[in-house]
Amino acid sequence: MASSVKKKNGTGNGQPKLKFNTGWEYAPAPESSSHIKINSRYDLFIGGKFVKPSSGKYFDTINPATEAKLSEVAESNTADVDKAVKAARQAYDKYWKKMPARERGKYIFRISRMIQERARELAIIETMNGGKAIRESRDIDVPLAANHFFYYAGWADKLQFALPNKTPKPLGVAAQIIPWNFPLLMAAWKIAPALAAGNTVVLKPAETTPLTALKLAEIIQESGLPEGVVNIITGFGNTGADLVYHNDVDKIAFTGSTEVGKIIQKAVAGTRKKLTLELGGKAANIIFDDAPLDQAVEGIVNGIFFNQGHVCCAGSRLFVQESVYNKVLRKLKDRIETLIVGDPLDKNTDVGAINSKAQLEIINRYIALGKEEGAEIYQSGCSVPKKGFFCRPTLFTNVSQSHRIAQEEIFGPVLTIQTFRTDEEVIEKANNSPYGLSAGVWTDKGSKIFNLTTKLKAGVIWANTYNKFDPTSPFGGYKESGFGREGGLHGLTSYLAS
Ligand code: NAI
Ligand code: MG
Repeated sequence: MASSVKKKNGTGNGQPKLKFNTGWEYAPAPESSSHIKINSRYDLFIGGKFVKPSSGKYFDTINPATEAKLSEVAESNTADVDKAVKAARQAYDKYWKKMPARERGKYIFRISRMIQERARELAIIETMNGGKAIRESRDIDVPLAANHFFYYAGWADKLQFALPNKTPKPLGVAAQIIPWNFPLLMAAWKIAPALAAGNTVVLKPAETTPLTALKLAEIIQESGLPEGVVNIITGFGNTGADLVYHNDVDKIAFTGSTEVGKIIQKAVAGTRKKLTLELGGKAANIIFDDAPLDQAVEGIVNGIFFNQGHVCCAGSRLFVQESVYNKVLRKLKDRIETLIVGDPLDKNTDVGAINSKAQLEIINRYIALGKEEGAEIYQSGCSVPKKGFFCRPTLFTNVSQSHRIAQEEIFGPVLTIQTFRTDEEVIEKANNSPYGLSAGVWTDKGSKIFNLTTKLKAGVIWANTYNKFDPTSPFGGYKESGFGREGGLHGLTSYLAS
């Protein structure tokens, strides 16, 4: 055996070692970051230039896998927010609303191409700043971000076909506030349709993941997009709130916690501001006994453990038909033993770092709560790095509907498992949630898929797959998961008056 191959530490939670586990790990295969350029400090991108914040303040942004500082970014205060909104308004009046739609489309195409050209750099920075495995940022986040710009570029001069018999008009200035779980992809989801529909933008990335948004600002600057059409400002929750309350904003698009979504909805009530909210989720992933079980197990793992469970549509509640429960549970436990948790820049890593210390604390609180509530815990036996924020894939069995771990969004690699006997029973259990963002159904029968997809109260339902995205397909929720759709034709309507 090669000397670089290390012996595995055994299962850390006292579980017997699984018979097929070879006891050997892969040799490290880290993606090189030596050529990546991250400035030591970033200013605000307003009016096509990087400008110093009037607050004079900067805050650190770190790598959650090492806790090392990567850079410091500007903290916007109310005056900075005002400056950004004014720049967006001026750009709207001066250039953007007068520009022929096909010219607008060309800029959006160019941004898409530039993202593709710089894909590797963007993926590495996304992983360094957010903690997600490089495999995810390289194969999912960055290509999808480019695809969103590409898709919406095509619509820019075809809006009358998107909304037949209507006269679609842009809204004006869009304020967009995004979270830390898909930093570049969420920026693309928000900016691309807004520009295609003819609006100008002020975007605020999440405080823990500003770097790819700032790289996108560099790309936008290089693309020659008229100054002020897109402004990107960094800051904390109060920067987001200043944007929400600004009088000259016509549209607010928010993705993040239900808690903040509710605050924004109240703030916007009675104003002219159009609002879309994409909030939390507690998706049911439902496995019937006639499902292809090995594929389903991959779907479960993809649904909750990849991207550290930092996915609003994560399949965090598993429902398994009673007759195959033991089989599925055994397969799932075997599979999570093979998941590699650790250095997100390593190409073999399946589960990277939790995005922040605060989020790891939330997840650990829920894990403790699950035990207190009487659920049975099973964690994979892998070792995790000492430094940085990591969490081992965690299963809870013996879970009842009333347990808080089965009701509340955990936003981490924690899965609750319940059983069911009939379609009716699982539909009722799945819908017994304040959320309604997504769901998964695994079965061999088309009729069962149709039955469930019509009765489950979820915006997106995957059949025999999970967490698949495409720019042409609308995404959004019911109930406390928010309202409005992003992606596809529906995503345009949120940025148009007609
Ligand atoms: P958050 O909702 O506080 O943050 C999301 C964005 O909103 C960030 O850019 C933040 O700066 C901004 N923000 C915060 N307070 C604001 C306010 N009053 N007005 C306007 N903007 C504001 O989410 P947080 O605190 O990072 O995470 C807490 C929980 O939220 C997580 O544990 C998870 O359960 C959930 N979450 C859900 C997401 C989703 O995609 N559905 C994404 C991120 C978090
Ligand atoms: Mg918060």
